[in-house]
Amino acid sequence: MAILKVARLGHPVIRSKTTPLTSQEIGSREIQSLIDNMIETMREYDGVGLAATQIHVSKQLAVIEVKNNARYPDMPDVPLTILINPRITKRSKVLVEGWEGCLSVPDLRGIVPRSESLTCEALDRHGKPIMIEAKGFFARVIQHEWDHLQGNVYLDRMPHLRSLTYLAEFARYAAPDGNES
Ligand code: NI
Repeated sequence: MAILKVARLGHPVIRSKTTPLTSQEIGSREIQSLIDNMIETMREYDGVGLAATQIHVSKQLAVIEVKNNARYPDMPDVPLTILINPRITKRSKVLVEGWEGCLSVPDLRGIVPRSESLTCEALDRHGKPIMIEAKGFFARVIQHEWDHLQGNVYLDRMPHLRSLTYLAEFARYAAPDGNES
């Protein structure tokens, strides 16, 4: 396994339009080992999700996991989830605001409104169709990673940039419940 280099905002791949994986690609050794490396990279950098565009691959693939996360210590655990060719087929109209950061936008965090719950249909790493009903932070991470696969980052979803903060100032001035103190 290997830790991959993470593309930062400004690299064209972050804004690229991704292509779906074919079943042949999903079964290939290359993609399977890419998935393993994405998981390792996400864990190495304390990410809660990582999209393929973030490691310079313009394909519809993302990994998600939340487990005792140092960057998001107050968030509930989410089991390791691999999303291939994901589609958000249902999303609640109720929007909730929450803090987000991104390994491709280092050192910053901002408040982003997201659907409170959603249904996501995708393929797992073996190419088997899965349907995920997610709410709360899990739903937020799915929307964040799905955005990456459309060439969007969380900054594009911020209705205003006033909450944007550096991490050191976030730790100092922002309360863990997402309200500015
Ligand atoms: Ni991100």
